Amino acid sequence: MTETDWREELERHGQSHVLRYWDELDEDQQRHLQAQVASMDFDLVERLTHQWILSTPPPRKGAAIDAVSVIPVATPDRADAREAWEMGERALADGRVGLVLVAGGQGTRLGFEGPKGTFPIGPVSGRTLFEYHADKIKNVRRRYGRALPWYIMVGETTEEDTKAFFRSHDFFGLGEETITFFKQGMIPCIDEKGKFMLDTKATLAMNPDGHGGCIPAMFDQGILRDARERGIDTLSYFQVDNWAVKVADPFFIGYHLLRDGEISSKVKPKRDPKEPVGVFCRGDGKVRVIEYTELDIYPQLLDTDAEGRLIHYAANAAIHVLSVDFIEGVYRNYAEFPWHCSHKKIPFVDETGERIQPDSPNGYKFETFVFDALVYARHEPVMLEIEPQGEFTPTKQMTGPDSVEEARASMTRYWRGWLEAAGCTTPLEDAQIEINPEFAISKEEFVEKAQSLPWPDSGDVVIGPDGSFL
Ligand code: UD1
Repeated sequence: MTETDWREELERHGQSHVLRYWDELDEDQQRHLQAQVASMDFDLVERLTHQWILSTPPPRKGAAIDAVSVIPVATPDRADAREAWEMGERALADGRVGLVLVAGGQGTRLGFEGPKGTFPIGPVSGRTLFEYHADKIKNVRRRYGRALPWYIMVGETTEEDTKAFFRSHDFFGLGEETITFFKQGMIPCIDEKGKFMLDTKATLAMNPDGHGGCIPAMFDQGILRDARERGIDTLSYFQVDNWAVKVADPFFIGYHLLRDGEISSKVKPKRDPKEPVGVFCRGDGKVRVIEYTELDIYPQLLDTDAEGRLIHYAANAAIHVLSVDFIEGVYRNYAEFPWHCSHKKIPFVDETGERIQPDSPNGYKFETFVFDALVYARHEPVMLEIEPQGEFTPTKQMTGPDSVEEARASMTRYWRGWLEAAGCTTPLEDAQIEINPEFAISKEEFVEKAQSLPWPDSGDVVIGPDGSFL
């Protein structure tokens, strides 16, 4: 876009006020602001502004919803699960599977500077979330003899630090060529009159376009092409904040493939009715997720059956398997992809040049959610239930529910079961326990390998990647 073009574009959309401080800016700042404007999808922003801010919204009324059908936790004593496991293992051994990690978020809620993946989750080892995910990948690679390419979505604010972290750790020994970063988009924050907001005199207030942004980003940045070139047709998707996630679970991949999966999801039972999670349900014949923030318009999500059990218990664990063709199909119809809008406190520079920190919501942020791709599925998505312990430990804050503290306690309990099964003689009552997943990712693998371990007499039990005690 030439200088005249982008200025005209601002004019045409009634947003020229963002140039209010133009003459005070140095050349770099001007270039930056110009680049922000030039990369803007004005039509999209205008559509969202009209839909969510400027028009009177229709009364929010929840449609009728039904419960989804869920495959119970996969255990090898069931024939369907054994078949799924074999199918999943075959796909992994054939190199059909790649990994997608969404890591666009900052560790703000953890009170932590920097990308969430660099948070030291290991209670004794201090290993970070990224390292834990990498350790699991190494294990799965060893088992199936395949590279398992890892596609990592970063955001504007996490890109540089994330890449530097991977470089300084020599890509955790995975090989740089097997890791590809891609970047999600940004979308401007809009004030209550439908106007862009300035974060500084030289910068528009923008926010990441949500994890649904991985869909256009994977297409536009050649991730889908790269996957196909490597023979990959299936992507295992997870969030950076889930320490315990099974990065490539043969059961889950197998069920997905056996049922011609397009998008499949893991379900964890809701801990309590008000737990802040999304819930899978069926509305208008389609499986979808309703977020906890919409409980007021879907109060039936809290309904219980005759035995007092929650009917809509199937919470979104944010672990999915997606087929490459399906993602491309969603991308082709991305213009219809739903957006969500939230009213937030957004710091801004006012017309006197002062930066204001509002104490009540003053603007809107838009984002997309990857699970909204469910409504594009032509046939029934696979919903596979999991046991949260050992598989779902989201770390949203330091203490309290879904916290680092809780995640560590849950993993200690989980690994204690492995140690007991392996005949560990160390008193475990007060011990911190950590088992590097490169050494073992399942109880069975651990028990087999732990036969020859010389158990310490006392203290913490921290087992490194090669089975040595740390
Ligand atoms: C999310 C799910 C919820 C689910 C819960 C399980 C949403 C809207 N809701 O809640 O249904 O039950 O996890 O833990 O996701 N991310 C990006 N880019 C973005 C936004 C997020 O990469 O623009 C990544 C973050 O790094 C994080 C993940 O997506 O890994 C989830 O974001 P978060 O804000 O933690 O979601 P929750 O509201 O906790």
